[in-house]
Amino acid sequence: MNQVGVIGAGVMGEALIAALISYGVSPQSIVISEKRKERSDELVARYGIKTAELSTNVSTSDALLLVVKPQDMAAVLEEIKGSINKGAVVITFAAGKKISFIEQGLGTGNSVVRVMPNTPTLVGEGMAAVSLGSGVSLQQAEFVSGFLAATGKVIEVSEDLQDAVTATSGSGPAYFFRFVEAMIAGAIALGLSEEDATTLTVQTIVGAAKLLNESGKSATTLRENVTSPNGTTAAALTTFESEHIGEVVAKAMKAARDRSQELA
Ligand SMILES: NC(=O)c1ccc[n+]([C@@H]2O[C@H](COP(=O)([O-])OP(=O)(O)OC[C@H]3O[C@@H](n4cnc5c(N)ncnc54)[C@H](OP(=O)(O)O)[C@@H]3O)[C@@H](O)[C@H]2O)c1
Repeated sequence: MNQVGVIGAGVMGEALIAALISYGVSPQSIVISEKRKERSDELVARYGIKTAELSTNVSTSDALLLVVKPQDMAAVLEEIKGSINKGAVVITFAAGKKISFIEQGLGTGNSVVRVMPNTPTLVGEGMAAVSLGSGVSLQQAEFVSGFLAATGKVIEVSEDLQDAVTATSGSGPAYFFRFVEAMIAGAIALGLSEEDATTLTVQTIVGAAKLLNESGKSATTLRENVTSPNGTTAAALTTFESEHIGEVVAKAMKAARDRSQELA
């Protein structure tokens, strides 16, 4: 790619700029168009990238990352459709916005890739799911998967599964944050200070995640390994089961999937 345009350089936009650079894209080939001048200046200074007016940027970029909020997407499409480079691959990160919405909003025949990232992308441990629109070339698909892999992991899914992805990896970090909040509250109720409860809980979840990721063992095996019959862990897990934790989680995820479908 000779030039990669990033439209909207907020929280996710910055994480993607960092990913493009770690993937090997030269900072001087990355051109951002960002509404807020001070934000744009900050990123130019931090990464050595360039900035340009939206219409200029989209006319000269070979790949365009659309990283604005979903509610701003229609206005952006309207603004760029007259000047976009028709050979550019358009990569949309907006939650719930379908490939057909981007294609129709542009009406230019550009190939479109839809990506659902998540917040751990900001620390290089993201999970992204990619869906390819029609006409995306192998080279374009490899470029997208390549730079996303620099922010964590990437899988390809058919677009009809993007709502399920949203309910799993998109909203997923918040489920764990909620669980952490509950554990901290539980530890405080057992007499620990808030500081100690937080340290114990956060390090436990980080360590457990690392063990799960690096041991090559399944969550089921790791859970069984620490659960002796009639022991302390068994006492806690029995309580989870009696409250039907599996059903609660499945129900919550279905609610997230359904809401994602409604928003789309
Ligand atoms: N953050 C996440 O973890 C996450 C996870 C999954 C998906 N996403 C998706 O990523 C997208 C961006 O999210 P975000 O959290 O990075 O939002 P954000 O921090 O609000 O960044 C979007 C940026 O785009 C700017 N902008 C809006 N319209 C523009 C235009 N016409 N031209 C140039 N810049 C424009 C906004 O400026 P103003 O503030 O002045 O409007 C803002 O600085 C969203 O569609 C979201 O669904 C984000």
